[in-house]
Amino acid sequence: MRTSNSASALGPVRRRVVASTVAAFLGLGVAFGSGLAAPAFAADSATLSGIILGVGSNETQRIVTWYSSADTAQQVQLAPTSSLVDGAFPASAVTFAASGAANIATSGGFNRHATLTGLKENTGYSYRVGFEGNWSSAYAFKTQSFEGDYDFLFYGDPQIGSSGNLAKDQAGWVDTVNVSLAANPNAEILVSGGDQVETANTEAQWDSFLAPTQLKSYPWAATIGNHDVGGKAYEQHLYTPNTDRSGAYYSNGTPSSNTSGGDYWYIYKDTLFIDLNSNSYATAQGGGGDAAHLAYVTDVINQHGTEAKWKVLVYHHAIYSPADHAKDADNKIRRVDFSQKFSDLGVDLVLQGHDHSYSRSYLIKNGAKADATEQPGAADVYPGPGGVLYVTANSASGSKYYDITQPDNSGTSGAGNGADPLDAGKYWYNSVQNQEHVRSYVKVEVRNDKLVVQDLRSGTCAAPNAAVELAKSPCTETGQAVGSIVDKVTVHPYHGSGQDIQVNVPNAAPGEFGWTIDGYNGLVDLGTAVDHNGDYFEATGSINPIAVSDSRRSLAPWSISAGVSDFKDGAKTFSGSYLGWTPKVVTAGAGAKAGAAVGSAYDGGGQGLSVSRGLGSADQGHARGTAKLGADLDLKIPGSVDKGNYRATLTITALSS
Ligand SMILES: [Fe+2]
Repeated sequence: MRTSNSASALGPVRRRVVASTVAAFLGLGVAFGSGLAAPAFAADSATLSGIILGVGSNETQRIVTWYSSADTAQQVQLAPTSSLVDGAFPASAVTFAASGAANIATSGGFNRHATLTGLKENTGYSYRVGFEGNWSSAYAFKTQSFEGDYDFLFYGDPQIGSSGNLAKDQAGWVDTVNVSLAANPNAEILVSGGDQVETANTEAQWDSFLAPTQLKSYPWAATIGNHDVGGKAYEQHLYTPNTDRSGAYYSNGTPSSNTSGGDYWYIYKDTLFIDLNSNSYATAQGGGGDAAHLAYVTDVINQHGTEAKWKVLVYHHAIYSPADHAKDADNKIRRVDFSQKFSDLGVDLVLQGHDHSYSRSYLIKNGAKADATEQPGAADVYPGPGGVLYVTANSASGSKYYDITQPDNSGTSGAGNGADPLDAGKYWYNSVQNQEHVRSYVKVEVRNDKLVVQDLRSGTCAAPNAAVELAKSPCTETGQAVGSIVDKVTVHPYHGSGQDIQVNVPNAAPGEFGWTIDGYNGLVDLGTAVDHNGDYFEATGSINPIAVSDSRRSLAPWSISAGVSDFKDGAKTFSGSYLGWTPKVVTAGAGAKAGAAVGSAYDGGGQGLSVSRGLGSADQGHARGTAKLGADLDLKIPGSVDKGNYRATLTITALSS
């Protein structure tokens, strides 16, 4: 139970409950953008290769990147797959002009990329790249609903080439992509943990990395690793949206040098992803270091944090990991630099690579374990304010594994690598550590009121498993099947407005009046509003019950009231006055009487719950004891409200004399 430690006998106390609604389906069509480039008619021919689909700025966009042997004007041509006739693109197909430049000398050729915009939801698309008379093969992708639940997959360090056997590394990588997408065909993004390849500008390794055909159909969200940074091939192959390519985000401070870098962000279905070039961490090297990354993250969250419900950070160098890199000096620096700010900014999840082993942290707050009592391997975690979950992915390709290393005596906070007081074999910051020398990937289920994070085996000791095949690592996995779970945790987000709401006081002390939200203060989910003949939408639900306790000798009156904010989804909004309620006494006691029902403003005007209304009260002289108050919510909104997934905050106020 989560409750108040400061319920006052005098004056108001305030707690907040989050109420959520509604996905109102209005069929908002998003048209393709105008001003499309006319197809270029070029006499030259070009060999087109390395085509990969990437994430765009949001769910209505994708970015396609490729290599071309010739420096010609090129496009991406796009059409709904249903409009193709015998594989031919229709006259109504749209084109998006490509940009690009000459590749670095070691690669040769040219790179191109184009951003596809105005995609509609739940649509299958076909696309091809090139120019009239010189098109690539056609590839397909699909969009899904632009609202609601979705899954994404996270892959650690394919690092193709690191075993020394390119074919074996490719085979493992292809198999992990096959296995993960066969099990999760509706996954919507493939997120990189960095180190796509072993040697930055070795194109044969990039060819192997790009071998899975699914990379042309599911958007890859690139992350730069230390093995990608030493050349331009990363940027040439993987164009990313909203990317700040100023010197601060390059490890040497020089974007024009033969190096890759940049920090970027995108929003996908209510998740704000921020992806950092963690190779730049020390200003002594010339870049902006960790301070620049923190300024970037702060800036992006300040500007776009309210447009999403989740904040996920991605970068390569794991700051809480279990193996070879756990005690690296540079990671100790990042660990000290990053943690507090990530807590302050309300980051939900941090995804990392680099250590080629799996770990899931305890909830970390301000550089220390947030809750000393959190048990190793807990199935459910409740971050409260400032708690952040850090996950490090194992190798997705099997090209290299790092064995787990032992804690030292350097302490259990900050840069320390000391032992976990609850399990001396682990580092203090890790709830779960795993190294079985089999390939795996991380699946993240984004749900309305939880994140479910799983590490799943995509291979066994058997080939393809390059590092094991080549006797670089002994396989220690014990017969678990492909698809079996290494680890699973559910993150329940924090909905309170202040830290004190988390303090557990089950019963008020003698002679006090207090209230608490009864049980876990989960999202009040009104589900999808029902359309009533286009006139209005309606959704119903119930608030999380409020427990009231009054043991004062004065038998003084008390009351609990609440009002709701406007409902918002990004820039879209509608008035909180459309929410009405019917209060009720769930468990009688303490003289509790239910407040009067309040109707939605949709029914005959009024202000609904946009002004504070009584939930329950007791008169002077009431009996001592406890009560539980609830209320049935009734939301009626005009049919003119835009489709969206709206949220509002219900602010609760208690008064007693
Ligand atoms: Fe790596």
